[in-house]
Amino acid sequence: VQPTAREEELLLEAFRSGWWTSGPFVGRLEEALRAQSGVGHAVAMSSCTAALEAALVVAGIGPGDEVVTPALTFSATSAAVLRAGGVPVWVDVDARSGNIGVDAVRAALTDRTRAILSVDMGGLPVAYGALREVSGEHGLAFVSDAAHSLGATDAGRAVEGLADAACLSFYATKNVAAGEGGALVTNNDTWAERAARWRLHGLSQGAEARYRSGAVHYDVTELGSKANLSDLHAAVALAQLESNAERLESRRRIARTYLRELAGVDGLGLPEDAPGHAWHLFVIHVPPAERDAVVGRLIAEGVRPSCHFRPVHEFTFWREQGLQRFPLPRSEEWGRTAVSLPLFSSMTDKDVSHVLERLVEAVSPAGVG
Ligand SMILES: Cc1ncc(COP(=O)(O)O)c(C=O)c1O
Repeated sequence: VQPTAREEELLLEAFRSGWWTSGPFVGRLEEALRAQSGVGHAVAMSSCTAALEAALVVAGIGPGDEVVTPALTFSATSAAVLRAGGVPVWVDVDARSGNIGVDAVRAALTDRTRAILSVDMGGLPVAYGALREVSGEHGLAFVSDAAHSLGATDAGRAVEGLADAACLSFYATKNVAAGEGGALVTNNDTWAERAARWRLHGLSQGAEARYRSGAVHYDVTELGSKANLSDLHAAVALAQLESNAERLESRRRIARTYLRELAGVDGLGLPEDAPGHAWHLFVIHVPPAERDAVVGRLIAEGVRPSCHFRPVHEFTFWREQGLQRFPLPRSEEWGRTAVSLPLFSSMTDKDVSHVLERLVEAVSPAGVG
């Protein structure tokens, strides 16, 4: 993928400014995130992983606190709970959407539950309204892992503002990419202020604030991390954010072509569409006995699929924690059947046709159709 002129311009401006670490571009990115989402605060971080941990720390998650979260996600979601000192309580997902539902969440609540940590799988918003109701009824924090869903809307409203805090990723493959990076977005003044300190060693004032105020000294007010975003990454993320709507339109168009063209192929499970879907991923499902063979055939034909995700509880580290409390059959089935098709905004019609043709061939000899 070639960088755009705007990406090169802003990156060069950040590079030439000499700041390199967190400086004016971090502020500009945070301002742009606030403006786009309509949410009060954006705190840029070095990754979504860091933003998730920060969100749970500032929400007060501590030893023994239970956080209800999907098993079907990237390991980072559950790892943030553990690192904050909490206990992930995995719930199963809806078989079609891959998102947690309100019934599964309700069934997992105990008197130790302190938070819900949802994931917008592939860019499809969770049932925000229903989950907000549960969190409100039970006094829980509601944190959204929105690593996939920057640009997604639910009933016309940006997902970043629909939970108590949303955590974004600017990882290389994400909708708004900067190589690495993330942000915590929240309307909670105290959370934002604490997260801004947490990302930089718990310092009362970071380098930029000291430079601007002429201050030399700072205090350390709490145990923090080192999770600030560099200005170089912020510059690229800002340029990408400016053009996110355009790229989102391309991804939507490609996803709808996939949906239309694959509707007639027997035996394939297709993802759920929704008006506000951010289409970070396009995950289809093939019979488990054929999945790896289909993936192998696609790779041999020059199409690069992947698998999002095998559920967290199946990995060695997580198995060894002995945390699983509920049966998770739909997450496990998803992990055995998922194939993510290439989906990025610069794909041409020819690229899309190539994927479709190779996919139809790849599933045919398997007798999937
Ligand atoms: C659902 C989910 N959450 C969190 C992350 C972590 O994002 P980052 O790489 O920015 O830490 C990812 C990354 O792929 C993800 O897919």
